Amino acid sequence: MSHTCRIELDGQSHEFPTVEGTENELAVDISTLRDRTGYITLDDGYGNTGSCTSAITYIDGDKGILRYRGIPIEQLAEHSTFVETAWLVIWGRLPTQAELDHFSHLLTQHEMMHESLRNHFQGFPPNANPMAILSAMINAVSCYDPEMMQIEDEFTLESAAARLISKVRTIAAASYKMSVGQPMDYPHPEYHYCENFLHMMFSIPYREYVPTPEVARALNLFLILHADHEQNCSTSTVRMVASSQANMFASCAAGVCALWGPLHGGANVAVIEMLEFIRQSGMKVSEYVERVKMKDTKLRLMGFGHRVYKNFDPRSKILKVAADKMLAKLSVNDPLLDIALQMEDAALNDPYFIERKLYPNVDFYSGIILRAMGIPVNMFTVMFAMGRLPGWIANWKEIHDNPKSRIYRPRQIYTGRTLQNYVPMDQR
Ligand code: CMC
Repeated sequence: MSHTCRIELDGQSHEFPTVEGTENELAVDISTLRDRTGYITLDDGYGNTGSCTSAITYIDGDKGILRYRGIPIEQLAEHSTFVETAWLVIWGRLPTQAELDHFSHLLTQHEMMHESLRNHFQGFPPNANPMAILSAMINAVSCYDPEMMQIEDEFTLESAAARLISKVRTIAAASYKMSVGQPMDYPHPEYHYCENFLHMMFSIPYREYVPTPEVARALNLFLILHADHEQNCSTSTVRMVASSQANMFASCAAGVCALWGPLHGGANVAVIEMLEFIRQSGMKVSEYVERVKMKDTKLRLMGFGHRVYKNFDPRSKILKVAADKMLAKLSVNDPLLDIALQMEDAALNDPYFIERKLYPNVDFYSGIILRAMGIPVNMFTVMFAMGRLPGWIANWKEIHDNPKSRIYRPRQIYTGRTLQNYVPMDQR
C-alpha cells in the first residue's frame, strides 16, 4: 500500500514521501521540509522522531517484541552466548564456527591492558564511581592503540571491536578491585569471556575464584539481554558522536556517560536503592506506590515504564524467571526479591500504572540477579555498559560504513531574549 503525506502550511499544500521499514513501520520523510516551507519539526525528547534507518534491532513496543538482526531475544537468551550475540549484532548474522573461534581468539589476544594503563587507576580516588573510571579509561586505552582510531578496513574494525569488548571487561574488573583496595588480577587465557570477568572480579591473592557454570550462564544471559536496544539514549549518543567521524573508542566512551543517568542504565542501581530503602525504613510497598503517584516529588517507581514498551519488556520477563531459578539454585534468600514481587503486583493492579502502560523494564529484575552473583551495586551500570558495547559498536559501524552519513545536527526554536546591547560593567 502506498502512503502520502500532505501538509497544509500558510495556505499551501506540500507533499512528502513516506518510508516503510521491513516490519512495516512507517515514517514521513521530512528532510526537505525546511527548504520547502521554512518550518522545522519540534519533537521534545524525540518521541516521534526517527533519527536514522537501521538494520540492527527491531522492537515492537506494543507487542513486547525484541529481535537482534531478526532473531527473537528469547531464542538468543536460551541458546546463545554473549560473544556469539556480540558477533551477530555487529556483523548482522550468526557466525560460523570458524568466525566465532577467530573472534574469541581476538578477545583473548586483547584481554590484557597495557601495563602503563594500570598506573592510571592509581590516579582515581578509591571511592571513584566505576562509570567515571570506565568512560575515562576507554579513551585512555585508545591512546595505546592509535592505529585503531582510523579504521579503513574490515580487519582493523574487527580488531578494534575485539579490543574494546575485551578490554572493557578487564577495566571494569580492575575498577572494582581498586574500589575495594585489592590488587588487580590478570585475565586468564583459558577462561571464556564471562568466566574471565568473574575471575578478575573475585579472585584474590592465594585464592583463585572458580566460577560456577550457573553464575557464568546467568552473566551470559544478562549481557545478551543488554546487547542492543535500537535508538536508546546512549546509542543515540554514540551515533551522534560517530557522525562527526569521531573514532569508535571516543564514541563508546560518550555512550558510557549517557548510560550513567538514573533514567537510563543507572536505573538498575536506583531500583536496588529503592527496594533497599523500603526494606530498611519498613515502609509498606503500597505506601511507597502512593507516594510515587502523588507526583509532588520527582519520585518514580524505578524499573517501571519505557519510552517504547507499552507492554511487558520481554527482557524483564526472561530476567524474572532467571532470577527465581538462580536464587533457588544458589539457595539465596533475597528479601529484596519479595519486595520487588509485591511492588510489581501493586503496580500492575493500580489504575495509575495501567492507564499509563507502565510495566517492569529490564532494570527491575536485573539487580536481583547481579546481587545474587555477588556483584556490588555500584558496578551494576558498568555491567550494563559491558553488555551494551556490541550495540554501540554496531551502530558506530552503521554510521561509519554509510557513504551518505551526515553529521547529526538538530535545529532548535530559539526562545531567548531578542537583540540586546552590550552594557559596560560600570553601567549595569
Ligand atoms: N513511575 C511513576 N510514573 C511514571 C514512571 C515511573 N517509573 N514512568 C513514567 N511515569 C509517568 C509520568 O509521570 C507521566 O505521567 P503523566 O502523563 O501524568 O505526566 C507518564 O507516566 C509518561 O511518562 P514520561 O516521563 O513521559 O515517559 P518517558 O517515555 O519520557 O520516560 C522512562 C520513560 C523510562 C524514562 C520513565 O518511564 C522512567 O523514568 N522510568 C523510571 C526509570 C527507569 O526505570 N529507567 C530505565 C528504562 S529501561 C532501560 C534503559 O533504557 O536504560
